[in-house]
Amino acid sequence: MEGKDLLSVSDLGSLDIDLLISDAVDMKARGWLSLLSGKTLALMFEKPSLRTRVSFEVAMRQLGGQTIYLSSAEVGLGERESVSDVARVLSGYVDAIAARTFSHQTLEILASYSNVPVINALSDLEHPCQALADLFTIYEKKGELRGLTLAFVGDGNNVAHSLLLAASLTGMNFRIASPTDYRVQERVLHLAQGYAFDSGAEIFYTEEPRLAVSGADVVYTDVWTSMGQEAEADRRRQTFASYQVNSELLSLAKGDAILMHPLPAHRGEEVAEGILDSPQSVVFDQAENRMHLQKALLAVMLGGLEIPLAGYR
Ligand code: CP
Ligand code: NVA
Repeated sequence: MEGKDLLSVSDLGSLDIDLLISDAVDMKARGWLSLLSGKTLALMFEKPSLRTRVSFEVAMRQLGGQTIYLSSAEVGLGERESVSDVARVLSGYVDAIAARTFSHQTLEILASYSNVPVINALSDLEHPCQALADLFTIYEKKGELRGLTLAFVGDGNNVAHSLLLAASLTGMNFRIASPTDYRVQERVLHLAQGYAFDSGAEIFYTEEPRLAVSGADVVYTDVWTSMGQEAEADRRRQTFASYQVNSELLSLAKGDAILMHPLPAHRGEEVAEGILDSPQSVVFDQAENRMHLQKALLAVMLGGLEIPLAGYR
């Protein structure tokens, strides 16, 4: 799998996800390992980041490698220089590129012109590193994935897309409550339905948050306005007003249900004040696990860890 890209969860098979989770368990237990000494990861971000940037930087350092952070303004991605030229130039210096872009198409161009692996560090379409780490967190908390039910409440956005694909691949039931104009994209849903057919996962869409959350093992939400959509914030606040995860909604889930959010959160909007600080919330473990899962991912993608990932394209 060396030299392959991770632009979408659909670049992985269920076996790959199982192996990444088991490697993440190992990485978390073992801490520092010299698997990637001499390797460099470029981080090229068009949008702000706390978790993704820092977790990739520390992950590389703990594996003996190094990172170079490039804001898109510095590089002039697509303005000072074409995306394809940036990809070809960077490929000559670094061993992998993790990129956060507004448009998923920018990532696809980067990947198609790069000679080194490109990792999606969030685009408007997907956030695969988040979803993989989230499955690791769910596994850590629940001891399994298959047969559990995750209820996503809110916008059918990049995080929802990657979680939907990851749940469908691994046999985890996925329920999503969104306003009708903010449903997940049909193309992603069809892909997930194909995976669910094989894995036995059930996918369920409703406009009614209570229906989605009733009896769920995991309640998940994300911001109503993603980065790049700020001009729509007022309209979205109105449309999503009845989609807030609060203690009343959470009480409909199983008694031992966990609450997840990728962060950053807007307390008082998609989550009621205080609820992310309640015992059911696992958001800070979830944030930490980004690093452990990405260590596993980097070790596999950059060839430091010899494990066969069948199905990884
Ligand atoms: N969850 C997440 O990706 O956070 P950042 O935007 O801070 O990287
Ligand atoms: N959906 C959010 C996720 C941030 C980690 C966004 O794209 O801004």
